[in-house]
Amino acid sequence: MSQADKPLAATPPMGWNSWNTFGEKVDARVVCETADAIVRTGMKDLGYEYVVIDDCWSDKRGRDSNGDLVPDPERFPDGIRAVADHVHSLGLKFGIYSDAAHLTCAKWPGSYEHEEQDAALFASWGVDFLKYDYCHAPSDQASAIDRYARMGQALRECGREILFSLCEWGGRAPWLWGRRVGGQMWRCTGDVVDAWYETDLTWGGLTINAAIDHAAYIADYTGPGGWNDFDMLVVGIRGRGHTGKGNCTDTDYRTQMSMWCLFASPLMAGCDLRTMDEATAETMMNPEVLAVDQDPLGKAAKRVAQRGPLEVWQRPLSDGSFAVGLLNRGEEAAEIELRWHHLGLLDSEPALVRDLWRRQDVGEFREKAAATVRPHETVLWRVTLRP
Ligand code: GLA
Repeated sequence: MSQADKPLAATPPMGWNSWNTFGEKVDARVVCETADAIVRTGMKDLGYEYVVIDDCWSDKRGRDSNGDLVPDPERFPDGIRAVADHVHSLGLKFGIYSDAAHLTCAKWPGSYEHEEQDAALFASWGVDFLKYDYCHAPSDQASAIDRYARMGQALRECGREILFSLCEWGGRAPWLWGRRVGGQMWRCTGDVVDAWYETDLTWGGLTINAAIDHAAYIADYTGPGGWNDFDMLVVGIRGRGHTGKGNCTDTDYRTQMSMWCLFASPLMAGCDLRTMDEATAETMMNPEVLAVDQDPLGKAAKRVAQRGPLEVWQRPLSDGSFAVGLLNRGEEAAEIELRWHHLGLLDSEPALVRDLWRRQDVGEFREKAAATVRPHETVLWRVTLRP
């Protein structure tokens, strides 16, 4: 199938979003240079595709005399169309942000009651992706369904294919109705912060470790065309963003990547890709790990065993093999065992275990296989039955 015939979000969308690092300081230069970096680093060849400007891109003072949103004249002096054109010239796709109320989360103008007008404006700029937030909107589920359906319909009718990314943080169970309102992905949690340990998250943010629990009970609702979204990656931010204490190690970042791939989550990088260090590139650019996320079967992992902080997650893949995560959420190294019945296999069946981070075969086993897993580490395996 050529790229052009590919249905929208057949596999979890991948790309970059400005929020985690740049917040309200996002500007045309950052976005264009990031798009350049996606090509230069080889991320594009690995599937990172959408370059998304989050909140704060418009003129905070409000709409123009036609009622149109206006790009911030200082940070986007040549308008949004020019930025979209640059992104498209590199073979990438371009995304933007709004909110289902009169104000966005950061209190810039939102799109409620301007859905058709804004969808038409976005289409005229060449927008391919809309993240649609839910700050300042009524808290009940019926209102959320109604407000997302309004924008979903406007996007369907705007004359351009625009991926619709819902962001109401999971409180109204969007996995039950996201597809119905035209969504291709829906956030399932609050904002994941650049932290493994954090106590002061009263505003609704959560750590990588806390986000993992949300995935345990909604795996059945994700799949081709409509994905559970566990929020942008904090991989590589190293405290340079504006949320979280920046106390993550590379092991923590790798666990976010491993688990997000097991969850079949969209993978939106959030660090400054222009200055990405080597460890960050290795975490975000391992083709065997990304292949788990992008597996065409689109089934998310389930937790199949748990003993204190030690967990086993497994995800069936399209070729009949399994992706397995051995996750140690605790503070001491420990052995974690995968038993064949966790995969629905008989003990007598021989299977090959491959370590995806190391890109090495571990060996052939029957009945079970085990690994020593460091604190916060996820060992990511692919287990393939021998014929
Ligand atoms: C909310 C969203 C974030 C980001 C900000 C922007 O918190 O969950 O992902 O879009 O708003 O203000």
